[in-house]
Amino acid sequence: MKSNSWQFDTHGAPGEVLYWREQELPEPGPGQAWVKINAIGINRADLNYVLGEHFPAGKFPSCLGGEAVGEVVALGPRANSGPAPVNRLNLEIGARVGTFSGRTNCLAMGVYRDIGLYDHVGLAPVPESYSDQEGAALWTAMITMGGAMEMGGLTAATGAGKQVLITAGGSGMGGLALKLARHWGATTIATTRKAEKADGLGKLADHVIVCSDSDGLVEGVQQATNGLGVDLVLDPVGATFYPGLLSAVARGGDIVSYECITGTQSSISIMEMMMKNVSFHGFTTFRPFNNPVMLNRLIEIGMDNAQALRPVVSKTFDLSESPEALEAIGRSEHIGKIVVKT
Ligand SMILES: NC(=O)c1ccc[n+]([C@@H]2O[C@H](COP(=O)([O-])OP(=O)(O)OC[C@H]3O[C@@H](n4cnc5c(N)ncnc54)[C@H](OP(=O)(O)O)[C@@H]3O)[C@@H](O)[C@H]2O)c1
Repeated sequence: MKSNSWQFDTHGAPGEVLYWREQELPEPGPGQAWVKINAIGINRADLNYVLGEHFPAGKFPSCLGGEAVGEVVALGPRANSGPAPVNRLNLEIGARVGTFSGRTNCLAMGVYRDIGLYDHVGLAPVPESYSDQEGAALWTAMITMGGAMEMGGLTAATGAGKQVLITAGGSGMGGLALKLARHWGATTIATTRKAEKADGLGKLADHVIVCSDSDGLVEGVQQATNGLGVDLVLDPVGATFYPGLLSAVARGGDIVSYECITGTQSSISIMEMMMKNVSFHGFTTFRPFNNPVMLNRLIEIGMDNAQALRPVVSKTFDLSESPEALEAIGRSEHIGKIVVKT
């Protein structure tokens, strides 16, 4: 069986280095399935990976991407060992399934393709009422932001009355986090650097702060919370915002970092952290992917609250336009998720 995928032989701008390549697709063995890809969720990490700004390629040529929705078209038998597939997954020919970025071999297989070979444990259910594009936007955001919220103490049981700051709130991750936090009763505050995004973001968040540095962030949070500060911060911006985050968080609050777009190094006052009783956390999806109980908890939350969490699809590109879609995410003009449809 032949399949085709976007691949690259060297790092660089997607429009310059990505090409469409045919390869032989092995038959599914035990614990594997062929999935015909219908929609792909674009993660900023995909762009950074092609640019050479994420973890290095395993070996060239390399594929890319891990978030997709498609149809099972061939199925190997269940594996006898290893982790079990996630709850609520319908593993049969013709079933609509999602793929997990954390359990897809992004380098050797990826999802920017027509049909791919995936492990059963790398597949997810798709809420029935979702379009393929919405399904492709759900799971990485749900697992990342739901997991990060849990780490910072925000759950369905604790959300009411909390104030949550979601920096870069218009991102694919941030959009889902705003919906989940609001659904759980929290007051949400989102940041963006771009004034032209403020109206759109205002539909998802209770307060929007337009800022690009710590001072603007602190001022905005003080205004939005009447000087009280927030209970929880979920942050992918990193170094630029870090000193401000410590000032913006309330006494006893939590800061969860899940990325550091502007850099990894920052200086904060340890004394301020101690005196405010603030907890810092670092989160990656490796945490739930290495913890089947947590992963299934997040799957159940995503499925049970699918209507409230329905992802915002900002723009859809054709599979042939994948390089343009990747370059679009780099311009940061979107709110929600950029998606590719096959
Ligand atoms: N820890 C994990 O396991 C995990 C899992 C999934 C994703 N991630 C990471 O999470 C990040 C967000 O992913 P995504 O797909 O949601 O990204 P995205 O949709 O591209 O959003 C990122 C947003 O960050 C803001 N931004 C970009 N450059 C910036 C800069 N120089 N300074 C400040 N803000 C900047 C932009 O918002 P404005 O233009 O509105 O300011 C942009 O829209 C990615 O870096 C990804 O690798 C981590």
